Amino acid sequence: MGFLLAIPGGPSRAESADEFGLEEKDAELPARIKAWNADCLSCHSEQGLTKPPRQGMDMALLAKLLVDHPRFEKSDHGKMACKDCHGEAYVPYPHLPKAKEQIKGCEPCHQQPARTITPEFKAGKHFKTHTDKFTCLSCHDSHTMRKAAKLPTAQAAVRQDNRQCRACHDDDRRYLALMKPESRRPDMAVVHSWLPEMGLHLDHVRCVDCHSPASDLALSHEVLGKDRAVRRCEACHAEGGELGRRLYKPMLIDAPGEQGGFADGTLLREIYVVGANRNRWIDLGGLGALGLTALAVLTRILRRRTK
Ligand code: HEC
Ligand code: HEC
Ligand code: HEC
Ligand code: HEC
Ligand code: HEC
Ligand code: HEC
Ligand code: HEC
Repeated sequence: MGFLLAIPGGPSRAESADEFGLEEKDAELPARIKAWNADCLSCHSEQGLTKPPRQGMDMALLAKLLVDHPRFEKSDHGKMACKDCHGEAYVPYPHLPKAKEQIKGCEPCHQQPARTITPEFKAGKHFKTHTDKFTCLSCHDSHTMRKAAKLPTAQAAVRQDNRQCRACHDDDRRYLALMKPESRRPDMAVVHSWLPEMGLHLDHVRCVDCHSPASDLALSHEVLGKDRAVRRCEACHAEGGELGRRLYKPMLIDAPGEQGGFADGTLLREIYVVGANRNRWIDLGGLGALGLTALAVLTRILRRRTK
């Protein structure tokens, strides 16, 4: 049957929706989606907890199954019906026994991007060692995710994307759930202690900006281990650095005019990256404030760059 979706707002949205094999449907659809979703939310929301539409439900369990509706509506999937992904088996309550098997992951709907993304994902260790347990949903939350290019700033993309990784890499419970009991979770602060201002880097650069190869798409889904991860300071701390090809790339692809097409210019609107900035004197002035180790490394970079 294919699922239904209204595409408001003119040809550009229709075009991007075509990519997913969607067709424009009747004008009544948004209102109907709202009504369908309101039915689910009559239970799966704060209101459902305080004023349940029926008695005899497992309220403690329901309390763990709430959907933040305003956040959902702002997400990439906010215009969809819950049942587009959840299937009809969740419509009656009690939900049908096999309802869970009907929940769709990403691939059935995003076949075009999945042609590139899935093989990349499968090339990384996450998938290779934890095949059945590690899926697209290990990182992506279908209710909240927003494409980086749609976020107001690149730093918002850093927060969103790094939260996905840190949900496991900073959490023994989730990390060890995938591993043998005797394993240990590598401490992020220890494995990255070679980075000066480590905290600053982990908060202002995406994990995937260092842990994935450069790609034609917004990013590659192949997560690289320590041997291939970016560790050269000049990769970012030099003019025309990697960040324009990675973190800032979605913004550049989707809005080249607005940003003037200059990676460095876009960078400067949000953060000041020593070395990527064109004004060497400000760089040198900034260096005075850094620790001695960082100073030594950075001076070496700057010297190499001016050769
Ligand atoms: C009348 C209240 C009610 C309505 C309406 C409702 N649900 Fe539920 N839902 C629950 C409760 C309670 C649970 C907890 C498990 C159970 O009792 O079946 C649940 C469980 C779930 C789960 C977790 C299931 C699992 O197997 O872990 C999902 C997903 C879900 N509902 C989605 C939906 C969707 C989508 C809709 C709308 C199409 C919806 N629900 C409508 C009450 C409701
Ligand atoms: C783009 C697809 C998609 C849409 C749209 C969607 N969901 Fe989900 N939902 C999922 C997936 C996938 C999961 C399972 C996550 C997992 O198992 O890791 C899920 C899980 C759930 C759960 C279980 C608790 C949880 O958060 O894991 C509930 C309840 C739920 N959805 C309700 C809803 C409601 C209500 C709506 C509409 C307002 C909705 N969903 C819209 C894909 C979607
Ligand atoms: C049932 C089909 C369906 C499922 C399942 C689904 N999506 Fe979507 N997705 C859509 C539709 C339809 C849109 C376009 C919504 C719009 O334009 O309003 C969309 C939008 C997106 C966008 C924004 C695209 C853009 O160019 O604006 C991204 C990114 C995305 N989905 C990723 C995912 C990921 C990752 C998953 C799995 C966690 C997933 N989707 C699951 C149907 C789906
Ligand atoms: C290890 C974590 C991880 C896994 C697993 C993962 N993704 Fe992603 N994905 C990300 C991150 C981080 C982004 C960056 C968000 C952005 O830039 O929009 C992303 C972005 C995306 C996008 C948006 C890219 C764009 O520019 O439109 C799609 C679509 C997507 N993923 C689909 C998938 C699919 C399909 C799978 C499973 C085969 C998957 N992802 C598995 C982390 C992951
Ligand atoms: C669901 C939990 C989970 C999520 C989410 C997750 N990881 Fe992992 N990651 C693991 C586990 C577990 C391992 C250890 C794999 C092994 O050695 O078997 C691992 C291993 C790694 C490794 C070492 C890989 C290698 O080849 O040696 C890197 C790097 C990594 N993750 C980065 C990331 C990044 C970047 C993200 C976000 C885009 C992310 N992870 C998201 C659980 C997770
Ligand atoms: C500036 C680049 C950079 C950033 C940003 C970065 N990493 Fe790393 N990461 C590396 C390098 C290089 C190594 C290898 C260090 C070594 O030689 O042991 C590493 C090591 C790791 C390891 C151990 C890998 C292994 O094979 O043992 C994991 C897991 C990891 N990083 C995950 C993350 C996560 C999660 C984030 C985001 C919170 C992140 N990294 C951010 C460059 C980076
Ligand atoms: C993936 C890109 C990337 C890599 C690789 C990288 N950096 Fe950075 N670095 C940044 C960004 C972005 C900032 C700016 C953070 C902020 O202030 O928002 C930064 C900030 C810094 C700062 C702090 C400057 C200040 O204004 O406080 C120092 C020092 C630094 N980096 C040194 C290094 C050194 C030395 C290396 C190599 C060992 C390195 N960086 C590798 C991206 C990178």
